[in-house]
Amino acid sequence: MNTKLILGIESSCDDTAAAVIRNDKILANITATQAIHEKYGGVVPELASRAHQQNIVPVINAAIEKAGVSKHEIDAIAYTIGPGLLGSLLVGGSFARAMAMGLNIPIIPVNHMQAHILAHFIQTESEKPQFPFLCLTVSGGHTQIVKISDHLKTEVIGETLDDAAGEAFDKTAKILGLPYPGGPMIDQLAQKGNAHRFKFTEPKAPDLNYSFSGLKTNILYFIQKELKKNPLFIDENLNDICASVQETIINILFKKLILASSKYRINQIAIAGGVSANSGLRKRLEEEGTKRNWEVFIPPFEYCTDNAAMIAITGYFKLVKGETGSYSDTSLSRMPL
Ligand code: KG4
Ligand code: ZN
Repeated sequence: MNTKLILGIESSCDDTAAAVIRNDKILANITATQAIHEKYGGVVPELASRAHQQNIVPVINAAIEKAGVSKHEIDAIAYTIGPGLLGSLLVGGSFARAMAMGLNIPIIPVNHMQAHILAHFIQTESEKPQFPFLCLTVSGGHTQIVKISDHLKTEVIGETLDDAAGEAFDKTAKILGLPYPGGPMIDQLAQKGNAHRFKFTEPKAPDLNYSFSGLKTNILYFIQKELKKNPLFIDENLNDICASVQETIINILFKKLILASSKYRINQIAIAGGVSANSGLRKRLEEEGTKRNWEVFIPPFEYCTDNAAMIAITGYFKLVKGETGSYSDTSLSRMPL
């Protein structure tokens, strides 16, 4: 097949991102992070939509310029159709479809969670997973164990019944008075703390599923109780609290991942999504891999949290298979994988 030049657009939450890819090689990958949400301790959907509108043209122009191409050379545009915040999705989706229509090129709707997984196939120095493999996809809105039989053939074999792992990080950060998003900050503080200092309950969820809402409540009550005894409890123990919470979340995630690997007899294990940027999780995957004879796949940092490169690579695989969309498709806040 001839080479394909694809523009990817991601706008499902609070990052406006655009990337240009030639087959599986990234030429440009630009993300504008919306700082506005920090002071509210979480993403404010209305503000996110407005910020996407401000950012989308400059971000796309910057990506095209950095790639050193002309927009008339682009073969197709891939964009996140869902899942995510509807207002945010509508901005990126409407822009992408209108631009593709103007250029008279195919439009490719992309599932955000599938894109997190396919980020593994972006051209890098490292080995690519072989099919079938399992992927633990951990983000701010999802926690799933997925069996991948082909680039576009996925089966969710376990998922959270309530909160996502990223939410567990973000909500803990809020309880501790740390800024949003909480994951990166907890990760940083945890590196200086004792992970075995405090114990939190590990919830019980059936089969290969997860549950994180009980952990959040457990942490909240624990902190409230300790603060009554010592108002400086958080300040004096912050690193240990973060390390212990992170350890608990990682333990919960791995318990089911190990089970999934033995149940499906698959020992190629990948991680993806924003929480896969966590240094403790990455380290644990290496350790479990060595212990269990797994072949492990850890994405580069820039492809863990939301980015448009993953949308573009998914668009590439869909284009190759002829899976294009229509200019009148509509964005979906909820969407199964
Ligand atoms: O995939 P992502 O960027 O957006 C969604 O699709 O939701 O994931 C965002 C989530 C947030 O909950 C954030 O706190 C978490 O990823 N996160 C981390 C780290 N970096 C981002 N969690 C733990 N450790 C990190 N280093
Ligand atoms: Zn994401």
